Amino acid sequence: MSKRKYTFTYKKMRNALLQWYHANKRDLPWRNTRDPYAIWVSEVMLQQTTVKTVTPRWHQFLVRWPNIDALAAASLDEVRGEWLGLGYYTRAKNLHAAAVKLQQEYGGRLPTSRDELIKLPGFGPYSSAAVASIAFGEAVAVVDANVERVIGRLMALETDCRSSDGRVAISQFADNLLDRDFPGDFNQAMMELGALICTSKNPDCPECPLRECCNANQAGTPESFPVRAAKEPMQPQVEAAVVIRNGDKVLLLLRPEGASFGGMWELPRVIVKDGESAATAARRAGSELASIKVSKLAELYQIKHTVMRRRIELNVFEAGKWTGEPKLHDHREYRWLTPEEWRALPRSKTQNQIAVWLEETLFN
Ligand code: ADE
Repeated sequence: MSKRKYTFTYKKMRNALLQWYHANKRDLPWRNTRDPYAIWVSEVMLQQTTVKTVTPRWHQFLVRWPNIDALAAASLDEVRGEWLGLGYYTRAKNLHAAAVKLQQEYGGRLPTSRDELIKLPGFGPYSSAAVASIAFGEAVAVVDANVERVIGRLMALETDCRSSDGRVAISQFADNLLDRDFPGDFNQAMMELGALICTSKNPDCPECPLRECCNANQAGTPESFPVRAAKEPMQPQVEAAVVIRNGDKVLLLLRPEGASFGGMWELPRVIVKDGESAATAARRAGSELASIKVSKLAELYQIKHTVMRRRIELNVFEAGKWTGEPKLHDHREYRWLTPEEWRALPRSKTQNQIAVWLEETLFN
């Protein structure tokens, strides 16, 4: 643990931070509302998605479902459909589940404390503290990746910031520094400092309101903090999917709840095994997932994308010939759909890309 001394008191630090925030904060739309529901939706979207992507989507979401009752009345499929492109789809499922619970058990209103919020689906330590402080003024500190970096540098924390000791040190520092009169502004100021000045690469220390009390800056090596254990390396994963056509329709499967991409419609898709060719795997996708025997495969399309530290290469084939009647194995439902009909249902960004491609190329 660092033994360095702070040259500033917490009070001076928090005042410098808040002053900087009021002069430099971005004019983000969720900062101009007091509506707890709208603030909640923004925090859920911002958890894993950038401000740039979130901004138009937040407006669109609130136009479609302006309050908790409206969101609770929507179907999960509709909410998932609206979430397309934001990624991490469990967030949509939890948001909807929390709205239903709030309507049924809380009179359609969010509870106002972190300890109550955290009992709702999808509310973790971050979002509970963010909503409690920003929407309801509760004096609780938020620690997200930006705040973790800012504090790790202020302290020049030498312990891995994701270890339990590191987390405790950071959260204690955050609690001490928190402005108890303006917790919402304070928390947003810390996140804003991390987003605009104390960035992971090339931090702009000369512009930082806390530079004089930052141990990492004083050490001359701000970028070497916070210390982090090495990340798991990216794992390559090859997948194969098969387009089984019936006239202008394609066989699609609905993934089960609880699985990754649960509730999404997609082509039969498997992971290619070691030593297996992508074409053999595409045949296996037809037989194992839908009891369809596929032959005469033609390679159609390849997509590369990354999900949770896996670098995925998805190879899409078309079945030139197939026999059998679809039967369900691990999936919840199957349907024959045109690419256009498919695009009206919940689907991942990658599968949407395939649907668009099929619509424009194969079915044109
Ligand atoms: N990241 C997530 N929520 C934020 C907020 N309210 N302000 C700044 N950055 C954020």
